[in-house]
Amino acid sequence: MSSLGKFAPRALRRSLKRVKVNLDVRKEFAADRRRYAAAMLPDDKSITANLSGMNLEAQITKDYHRIEKGLALQQPRRPFGLEVQRRLEKLLPAADPDAEYVQHARTALTALQQWNAGGGVSEDISPLRDIPSQPALPDPDSFFGTRHSVRDFSARPVDPALLERAVELALFSPSVCNRQSWRVHIRQGEEARRVLEFQNGSAGFRDIVPAVVVITVDARAFAGAKERNQGWIDGGIFAMSLVWALHALGLDSCMLNMSVPTFKADALRRHLNADDSELVIMMVAVGHGREGHRRARSPRRGTASVIATAGGA
Ligand SMILES: Cc1cc2nc3c(=O)[nH]c(=O)nc-3n(C[C@H](O)[C@H](O)[C@H](O)COP(=O)(O)O)c2cc1C
Repeated sequence: MSSLGKFAPRALRRSLKRVKVNLDVRKEFAADRRRYAAAMLPDDKSITANLSGMNLEAQITKDYHRIEKGLALQQPRRPFGLEVQRRLEKLLPAADPDAEYVQHARTALTALQQWNAGGGVSEDISPLRDIPSQPALPDPDSFFGTRHSVRDFSARPVDPALLERAVELALFSPSVCNRQSWRVHIRQGEEARRVLEFQNGSAGFRDIVPAVVVITVDARAFAGAKERNQGWIDGGIFAMSLVWALHALGLDSCMLNMSVPTFKADALRRHLNADDSELVIMMVAVGHGREGHRRARSPRRGTASVIATAGGA
C-alpha cells in the first residue's frame, strides 16, 4: 500500500481500494478485448475471401452446419441457404481440399443444391435418427451424485489411453455451430506439477496430482462483437463433459480455476507453447483418489432456490 493509503482514514482507504480494483478490471477487460479482436473472425456480412487457418475453418464449418441444421428441420424451406452457398463457393477454394471439414462442406453443398432443385433430404447430411431417444436411466443419481472434486490422489499414474478416451467422449459436447474450438494440453508427473503452479487453487495438493489437463479454446473460431463470450461458454461445456467422461471411466478429478491476471495466463500459454489466440478456460487435475480420501461436503442449494418463478425473484 502507498504511504497515502497507510495513513488515510479507513473510508478513504476503502475508496482507494475500490478505485484500484476498478482500474484492474478495466486493464484486464482491455487485454481480453485485444486478444479477442486480434483473433476473431469478422461477422458473416463482412467475410471476404482472405480468411485463412482457423478463421477459415470456423467460417466454413459455421456455414456447412447451417445446411445440416436447415435440412434437419421438420419442414425445410425450399429454396434456402443461397447466401451460405455463395459464401462457401467463395471460401472453399482457399482451403486445404484434403481437410475433413472441407469434405463435410462439399457434401453439404451438394445436398443443398439437390434439395433446392426439388430432391429429397440427403441421408448423409441430415440422417434420420436411427436410434430412439435415450430411455430414462433407472438411477441417474448413481452417476451424477457420485462425482466429487478429489484433492487427495494415490501415487498411481494415469493411463494416457484413458485420458485420450475421456477427450474422445468429451468431443460429443455441443458447441456453437459445431465449431469445436477446443484444445487440451495434457501433462503428467513432474510436468503436471509445474503446470499447476500457474494457478493458486491447487496449492495444498499439487505435489500429489498425477496428471493435469489444461482446456483452452481458440478465439479464432468466434465472430464479431456478439460472440465475444462464446469461447468461455463452449470451453466450460467441454470442461464439464470431460469431467463427466473421466468419472465414467473411473478416474477422479478436480476442476481448477484460471481466474488469474493476463500476465499469468500469458506465462502459462508460453509454457505450454499454446497460441496467443487460445483462451485458457481452466485446468483439471486428474488421478485415482487415495484409498480412504475425504471430499469437501460442498452442500447444494435446494432446487426451489434455483428455479426462477414466473413472477420474478
Ligand atoms: C471453474 C471451477 C474452478 C474451480 N477451481 C478450483 C480450485 O482452484 N481449487 C479447488 O480445490 N477446487 C476448485 N473447484 C472445485 C469446486 O470447489 C467444486 O466443484 C465445488 O465445491 C463443488 O464440489 P464438487 O465438485 O465436489 O461437486 C473449481 C470448480 C470449478 C467449476
